[in-house]
Amino acid sequence: MFRIPSTSLGIPFHVLLLSLFLLLLGNSQARSLKEKEQEILLKMKQEWRNPPSLSSWNSSTSHCSWTGISCVQGFITHISLFNMSITGAIPLPIANLRNLTYIDFSYNYMTGEFPAVLYSCSKLQYLDLSHNRFAGVIPDDIQSLSGLMFLNLGFNNFSGQIPVGIGRLVALQALYLDSNKFNGTFPVEIGNLYNLEELYLSHNEFEPSRIPSEFTQLKKLVLLDISNTGLIGEIPHSMDCPDISHNQSVI
Ligand SMILES: *[C@@H]1O[C@H](CO)[C@@H](O)[C@H](O)[C@H]1NC(C)=O
Ligand SMILES: *[C@@H]1O[C@H](CO)[C@@H](O)[C@H](O)[C@H]1NC(C)=O
Ligand SMILES: *[C@@H]1O[C@H](CO)[C@@H](O)[C@H](O)[C@H]1NC(C)=O
Ligand SMILES: *[C@@H]1O[C@H](CO)[C@@H](O)[C@H](O)[C@H]1NC(C)=O
Ligand SMILES: *[C@@H]1O[C@H](CO)[C@@H](O)[C@H](O)[C@H]1NC(C)=O
Ligand SMILES: *[C@@H]1O[C@H](CO)[C@@H](O)[C@H](O)[C@H]1NC(C)=O
Repeated sequence: MFRIPSTSLGIPFHVLLLSLFLLLLGNSQARSLKEKEQEILLKMKQEWRNPPSLSSWNSSTSHCSWTGISCVQGFITHISLFNMSITGAIPLPIANLRNLTYIDFSYNYMTGEFPAVLYSCSKLQYLDLSHNRFAGVIPDDIQSLSGLMFLNLGFNNFSGQIPVGIGRLVALQALYLDSNKFNGTFPVEIGNLYNLEELYLSHNEFEPSRIPSEFTQLKKLVLLDISNTGLIGEIPHSMDCPDISHNQSVI
């Protein structure tokens, strides 16, 4: 009678072979995903015209040890490029870094519009684009970044109306929109962001309006800066609690 050879553990030999094969296949797929992530970073560096601050971004070492890069299990989760003299737009290939949770591009010279390309980074929780030269309007579908807990767009040239969609980013704990050229009506929908602890709206060009009564729903707020935003009238009485440091120059 034909017998399939068994290993000493009693596992049929062909089952063992198959498992080994699948294990190797899985490993090589993971490895090639990681190689792709390195290629993406190199493309980004190239699109930024090889700034000297990114000289460590070269294939002599693993990309997980490059300046500003952190990985979890070999996959890129953080890109932190604060004050790296980077010029140019946010490169499109970044959209394929699907494990990103944290992006800090603050204090550079980046240009272009709001990077809707990041919508495919669905795990993104932290996005700091402050102190750059981004311009244009914020798209209403910004709510696609629904995992965001921290969003800083301060000190750029963003303009137009703050979109209603921003009020759907309900995980937000900190929202900085200060020192831009936002105009139109004061963004009432921010009152829906019930997890907000910090809100900066100062130095924008909103139409003169009163503080919306919706803002009284922001029960967790500890920092509120609404100076120089064209607000008139009084702070709603229910917001007037001692743990809010109103930095209002209400005019
Ligand atoms: C590549 O990165 C290594 C490690 O960070 C660095 O020492 C080296 O100078 C870099 N090479 C180039 C050509 O920039
Ligand atoms: C950015 O770096 C430059 C020099 O590398 C330094 O002079 C400047 O103070 C830094 N800016 C910030 C905001 O840290
Ligand atoms: C990163 O993403 C890949 C592909 O989506 C996934 O298989 C892997 O588990 C993720 N790794 C981490 C650390 O989240
Ligand atoms: C914003 O735009 C104005 C005029 O176009 C320009 O002078 C200014 O430098 C820009 N500011 C930033 C932060 O990009
Ligand atoms: C508001 O910003 C938009 C977009 O930049 C601009 O087209 C519009 O003229 C501005 N409106 C006012 C009243 O300044
Ligand atoms: C309040 O506004 C003043 C003047 O604009 C500024 O110096 C100060 O740092 C602000 N405080 C906070 C907590 O933002």
